[in-house]
Amino acid sequence: MASGICNSVLVTGSNRGIGLELVRQLAESPSPPTLIFAGCRDPAGPKAQELRGLAQKHKDVIAIIQLDTSSPASISQAAKTVGSKLKDGSLNLIINNAGVNVHLELSNTGEKEMVDTYRTNVVGPMLVAKDFLPYLRKAVSQAADQRGMSCRKAAVINVSTLLSSIQKCPETFAMAPMYAYRISKVTLNMLTKCLAEDVKKDGILVMAIHPGWVRTDMGGQEAPVLPVDSVKGMLKVISSLTEKDNGTLLDWEGNSIPW
Ligand SMILES: NC(=O)c1ccc[n+]([C@@H]2O[C@H](COP(=O)([O-])OP(=O)(O)OC[C@H]3O[C@@H](n4cnc5c(N)ncnc54)[C@H](OP(=O)(O)O)[C@@H]3O)[C@@H](O)[C@H]2O)c1
Repeated sequence: MASGICNSVLVTGSNRGIGLELVRQLAESPSPPTLIFAGCRDPAGPKAQELRGLAQKHKDVIAIIQLDTSSPASISQAAKTVGSKLKDGSLNLIINNAGVNVHLELSNTGEKEMVDTYRTNVVGPMLVAKDFLPYLRKAVSQAADQRGMSCRKAAVINVSTLLSSIQKCPETFAMAPMYAYRISKVTLNMLTKCLAEDVKKDGILVMAIHPGWVRTDMGGQEAPVLPVDSVKGMLKVISSLTEKDNGTLLDWEGNSIPW
């Protein structure tokens, strides 16, 4: 249940797939956030048509923000834009969802595939967290209860994957021999852990979540989990996080995944 999950949230990569479903369920929950910032590479383009329709339906809640997570300039501009729209300067939740997967095995993976994937899946979430941190800190300072951690107060959620698990690699590699993707998401996990250690003193929770194998452009048509179910599960997990979950990797059903 997304009900009362938080007051304000940023979702990156929200024009299709899991990101679009996150924005939809957040906006249509019984007690929606006051403000949902829907980050999207090309807000005026054809791939954002569905998101524009959703934003039109929830005019006062959803704000579409130009946000290309592979561009540091776009990230810092988005942070300024969001800052100008926040009434009290505080943002509760960042969901670093935007990601790419070139689906290539070793023989087809070159420098370009590695660097492009790293830029979007690692550098992007790192710079988003860094540039938006002041708003999360403000949210903590304005929280009625200073004790504990939650997404209602301030949190960064990085969308990772089961394929990032080094321990599970012997079981999962053959079905998905994707070098660039796996390596980038392992690094995203380390970003999660570093950030969790770094900002716990500020009362900000940081964790990573695996959405399941989901039927999206990335997951493909054979994926067993529908976006609606994955997101329902993820929002249930996210909304019940506490300090014990800081720096962890959980799946969409709340199960722990080994690093
Ligand atoms: N589907 C699965 O089975 C699965 C499993 C595990 C983890 N995940 C993770 O879940 C997240 C969402 O995946 P998905 O299945 O929804 O993928 P998807 O259907 O391919 O959608 C990816 C989203 O990310 C956006 N994006 C990509 N690069 C971007 C950039 N540089 N700046 C801003 N947005 C960018 C895309 O926007 P454009 O339309 O502009 O390209 C799109 O909105 C990813 O992080 C993925 O790794 C997915």
